[in-house]
Parts: sequence; C-alpha cells; structure tokens
Amino acid sequence: MTSSQTFEADVLIEGERIDALGSFPEVEADRIVEAAGKLVLPGGVDPHTHLDAPLKGTITADDFYSGTVAAAIGGTTMIIDFPVQEKGQDPRISHADWYARAEEKAVVDWSLHQVITDLPDEFFPALDELIRDGSPSFKMFMAYPGARMVDDATIFKAMRRTAENGGFVLMHCENGPVIDLLEKEAIAAGNVDPVYNSITRPPVTEAEATSRAISLAELAGVPVYVVHLSAAEALDAVGRARDRGLPVYAETCPHYVLLTDEMLSEPDFGGSKYVMCPPLRTPAHQERLWKGLRDDELQVVSTDHTPFKFEGQKEMGRGNFPKIPNGVPGIEWRTGLMHHFGVRGGRISLNRFVELISTAPAKLFGCYPRKGEIAPGSDADLVVFDPEKEVVLSARTQATLSDYNPYEGWELRGAVETVLLRGTVIVEGGAFVGTRGSGRFVRRGESIALA
Ligand code: URP
Ligand code: ZN
Ligand code: ZN
Repeated sequence: MTSSQTFEADVLIEGERIDALGSFPEVEADRIVEAAGKLVLPGGVDPHTHLDAPLKGTITADDFYSGTVAAAIGGTTMIIDFPVQEKGQDPRISHADWYARAEEKAVVDWSLHQVITDLPDEFFPALDELIRDGSPSFKMFMAYPGARMVDDATIFKAMRRTAENGGFVLMHCENGPVIDLLEKEAIAAGNVDPVYNSITRPPVTEAEATSRAISLAELAGVPVYVVHLSAAEALDAVGRARDRGLPVYAETCPHYVLLTDEMLSEPDFGGSKYVMCPPLRTPAHQERLWKGLRDDELQVVSTDHTPFKFEGQKEMGRGNFPKIPNGVPGIEWRTGLMHHFGVRGGRISLNRFVELISTAPAKLFGCYPRKGEIAPGSDADLVVFDPEKEVVLSARTQATLSDYNPYEGWELRGAVETVLLRGTVIVEGGAFVGTRGSGRFVRRGESIALA
C-alpha cells in the first residue's frame, strides 16, 4: 500500500533497503515476515514531536527512548523533533544538545527542525550551516510572548534568509499578544479553569496569525508550513493562498479532528489533560478539517506529541489555566486513529491515509524517497497493519509515559502488528523488540513541492 498504489506483492529486503517488489518463490530469505491478509505500509513519518522538551517550567514526560518506543509501536519509523534556541544563544548549541540526546536514545530514525527565538544577523551563518548539515527547516512561534514568540520583523528576517539558502519555514500561528491580554483579563475576572484555554484563544486569533504568516512568507518568497492547524478560518486562509498558487502547506493532528472543546470541561480539573495551543474546537471545525484533509488543503497529519502527566505536571495550573503545560500525547495512536476514523469512517481513502502520515511529510521535509515510500532503493521501513484487529486505547497499556490517554476506552478496529526499521524488526505482535539508540539521524535535503 503506497500513497498512489494498492497491490499485492512480496517485498524483498537486502540489508537496510528494499531490493525489489514482486513474487520471489525461489529466494531463500534469512527471515520471512508473514503479511498475508494484512496491509503493508511505508513507515510513518511524524514531523512534529516534542521529546524531552522544556515547556512552562517542566519537561515533557517522554524522552527520546520512551517517546520513540511509543512511535514505533504506533507504526512511525521517523520523527522530526524541535530543538529550542535559548535567546541570545547560537542555535547550533540547542541543536547539538537535542542531537546528542536523540542519538543516544532514539529507536526510530529522527531529524530536527530548529526553533528560532532570536535572530541577530550574526546567527545567519548558523542557519546556513544547519541547512548544509541536513536540517533545512526552521520553526517560529507567533504565540507565547515573553517565551518563544518572535516579532514579525524577526519572522521576516528568518524567512528571507531561508528563501536565500533553500530552507523551509514552519509557523505556529496564533496571535500571542492578543491571547495574552485575553488570558490576563480572564484570570483577573476569576475565570481560571481549563475551559478558558479555548475561550481565550478564539478561532480568529489563529486565522489572523495564519494569514499574517502567509503574507510574510509571500513577501520573503519562501515556502511556509503551518503547524497544528485547528480552526476552519485558518484553513480558509491556507486554502485561499494555495488557490493563488503559493507554496503554502499545513498539517493538522488527530486530536483536532477527533476531540472537541467540550473535553476542557471534564470535572476535577480533568479538562487540563486537553489544554493545548491552539485549542480544541467545535465539531463544525472538525468537519472543515476532514474536508481539508480530503481536498489537499491540509497535506499532513502529525501528532504534535507533547506528553505531560496529569499528576504533578498538568496540575501545575490548578487555579490558573495559563500555567497548565499545554499539549497532549499522540505519537502512539496516529496510525490507528486515522485508519479507524479516516479510512474506516469513509472520510479518506487508504492511499490518502498513507500520503498524510508518511509520503507527504517525507516529501515536504526532504527525505523522500528514502522515507515515505515502498520502492526499490527506499529504506526498508515497513509497517504490517492488521485492519481487522480490535484494540482498546488505555493509559494502562500505552508505552508513552504520560499517565493518561486522551482517547481512554476508545475501541479501534485496525492495529499495527509488525514494524521494520531499515530491515530490522523493531515491533513484533504489537510489542517493541528493538534496541535503544538504534535510530539514526536522517540528513534531509530539498523539499519536494507537493502538487
Ligand atoms: O499546545 C501545544 N501544541 N504544545 C506543544 C508546543 C507547540 O506549540 O507546538
Ligand atoms: Zn506550536
Ligand atoms: Zn508542537
């Protein structure tokens, strides 16, 4: 099963690569992985994760070991994570720090999008060097003033440089200063509960920033990728730009198409488990996102895996919702959720499903056809997916170290059975059997523009 074809074949693997597709009854293989009656997919590529990442005075619950074990179990064989530049510090320092931790621990292949929080001209050569060394994408935040947010001039400077050196820009699109004001007013009025996460981040704050990011990218002449898009109005802005032929791309995440802002009202501070930025929205937004996934206004489904524990982490924001560490775990369930609700739910085709979780991110982020494809010469990253197996999602059985599951008790039909990373089986019968540190850095090159 690929993003464009469905066919029955044996996959012959030689070393770490796919050697041939066809029928090979004469070949005496060292090992045969039985996949009759199952789907064989290219390994998932998740271009948006936060492992071992600092946020709001705490650190995400998964490091590069537990997080990538969860990824592997979920059928993802490559992730792209985000080193965060300290203001005033050469971005290569945070890049090297993330690199060292991933190299020691990751069990799937990995790469990095450098976050830029500060860009005096003296850091330009650092960006150029990161691109030359295989990390040709940068992320900036229009949200989180006083922390990661950069102003429009910095965004434009980074975009212009990236246009010159052939890189790619990812944008977190929310109007940070306006949201900051709304949050402060809410707290002053005694509105301190998790539900105010969505009330203080209305769709137009996302749409305005999305339009602004697109305009700045157009001015700079650089392709732009909008991360974790959740609002219909923001998607309208992306759709309009794409209709004009601009190189504008966007991702959404399973939680935005499957969970609604009603979860934020869960009693006993349970709503904190669903606090994220941008926030969960209403079913009308979800329908618009599904349409966008079908019609290619959205090109990728990532997870934005940002796992915190409820106990001791989400609880930090009791009585003060802006202090709740924002984000949800998701790295482990993307394939199963998108298959069950997308494909089985009749919303997207099987080929489109493969495209959204594997082929399109590999193309956009410069590692196709090594990743995201089943073809001779591609890395033998393969997922055997049993479309009939029934599973129940639960924190009791998950690999991620978050202590809750946003989809607790949900029943899915379809599960990852076996996963191969560069020809080696790392998941068997749904259980991890790989080795710490066996994931490798993927040097990425030029982005392939999607049609
Ligand atoms: O709330 C979210 N999305 N947390 C992760 C950090 C980010 O902005 O991507
Ligand atoms: Zn973000
Ligand atoms: Zn994120």
